[in-house]
Formats: sequence, C-alpha cells, structure tokens
Amino acid sequence: MRIEVLHGVNLDQLGRRDATHYGSLTLDQLQSQIETWGSELGLSTGFFQTNHEGAFVERLHALRGNADGLILNPGAWTHYAYAIHDALEIAGLPAVEVHLSDIGGRDAWRQLSVIRPLCFATVSGKGPEGYREGLELLNKELAG
Ligand code: DQA
Repeated sequence: MRIEVLHGVNLDQLGRRDATHYGSLTLDQLQSQIETWGSELGLSTGFFQTNHEGAFVERLHALRGNADGLILNPGAWTHYAYAIHDALEIAGLPAVEVHLSDIGGRDAWRQLSVIRPLCFATVSGKGPEGYREGLELLNKELAG
C-alpha cells in the first residue's frame, strides 16, 4: 500500500517555527521518521510539500489512482482553503488529517477545518507521533 503524505504552507519551515506548538524536528527529519513508521507497518510512503495552493491542488488531482491513502497537513490552508477541500474530494482517497499542534485549543480561526468532512479521522496536538497514529489508522482502514 502506498501512502502519500502532503504538507502545505509553511511546513517546510519546521525547525524554525514556534517549538512549543510544532516541536523541533525539521521537515526532512519528520519525513524520515514517518517513512520508518510506515515501513514498520509495511506501508510505502511518498512525500510532497509546497507553499503554493495551486500546486497542492494539482498534486491531489494527480494522486487519484496513484496512491492508496493520504495523510494531509495543509497548514493554515486547513482553515479556509475550499479549493483544497474540492481537490481532496476529486482525489477520492481515504484520508487522515494530521496537525502537530492542538488546533482545537488555539486561536478561534483555527477551530474550523474545511477538509475534516472528507477525512475519516483527525489527529491533532500529538506532535510527530500524530503521523504514526495516522498511518496506523490508514493501515486499519485499508485492511478493512
Ligand atoms: C498546523 C496548524 C495550523 O493551524 C497552522 O497554520 C500550521 C500547522 C499544525 O500542524 O499544527 O501551519 O497544521
């Protein structure tokens, strides 16, 4: 099974962002940790990050039929980017939304996730471990 892990705007800046919310790992370090967790579950992982919403949307279009499941952390786009909601619908793949920080316990504007209705699970506030949980959830979903 192939899982695509998509990171959106500003996630390339991990390691330089507020560590109390996002921890200290860089994106490369986080991705290599996710790859290890995936292989422990027998899942192959692919990674994509962009700061351009259109590129994120086009990646979702291209994934239809080319991945078995998705983990998405779109960053701030999570809260308002309806084009990403629609592209996720077009991708038509089982998806888990993951956030490093606890978006429910932060600013009012972070409370809404426009992609949540299209994700079968959300993991928020667990740091890098949240991605391991996301992989485990996808593994169960794909096996079931
Ligand atoms: C984030 C939470 C978002 O609110 C924020 O804009 C991010 C990262 C997270 O992983 O906690 O950039 O998605």
